Amino acid sequence: MDLAEIYSRIWDCLDRAAAGKNQPFKTMQAATIGLDGSPNVRTVVLRRVSEPQSEIIFHTDLRSPKIAELSREPRIALVGVDPVRNLQIRAKGKAEIIRSGPERLEAWKSSPDHTLTVYRTALAPGTPIDSPDQAFGSGSAIAGEQKGFDNFCVVKVHIESLEWLEHSNNDHHERALYRREGERWSQSWIAP
Ligand SMILES: Cc1cc2nc3c(=O)[nH]c(=O)nc-3n(C[C@H](O)[C@H](O)[C@H](O)COP(=O)(O)O)c2cc1C
Repeated sequence: MDLAEIYSRIWDCLDRAAAGKNQPFKTMQAATIGLDGSPNVRTVVLRRVSEPQSEIIFHTDLRSPKIAELSREPRIALVGVDPVRNLQIRAKGKAEIIRSGPERLEAWKSSPDHTLTVYRTALAPGTPIDSPDQAFGSGSAIAGEQKGFDNFCVVKVHIESLEWLEHSNNDHHERALYRREGERWSQSWIAP
């Protein structure tokens, strides 16, 4: 593959991940800079991607620590792996937290109900509890038609760089770097 083909393949992998179940890169690890300056990383589900807009979108809880971190420092890095094909995709960019408006509402409405349970707890993510039941147990759920919506937000990552690494079985590894420069992307091979 040449650099242009790899670039298309990256977005193709991300597109499939966002659209399908059990796809490689459906979950990626998202790293932020903690409030104390230390790194923090966690798994998120890719909900939507857009190559023309250079965006990767995930959903999260407004009460979660990552929102405080991204509000202070929007730089974010994502990494995912396809362990079968030995592929790694890394992305870096700036996170925009969408706390209101039609895009957030649409994201909420189009999410399967079971994925919304986590937003319906009375306790903020990370709150110390005595046992797992306490988070979801009776009395902790918020009542009402819009249950949990107040806690829900969309995180849109405006991608500034992408990296591809393919570890092939014959030791011919390929690593490529793409940087967004205004409306275009620069592309280059880098040593694996
Ligand atoms: C398979 C899997 C998928 C997850 N997807 C999300 C997600 O899409 N959004 C999210 O906020 N947390 C998701 N989580 C939970 C996070 O990894 C993390 O534990 C939680 O968001 C708290 O992160 P924070 O304390 O850094 O804010 C997922 C966890 C797993 C195991």
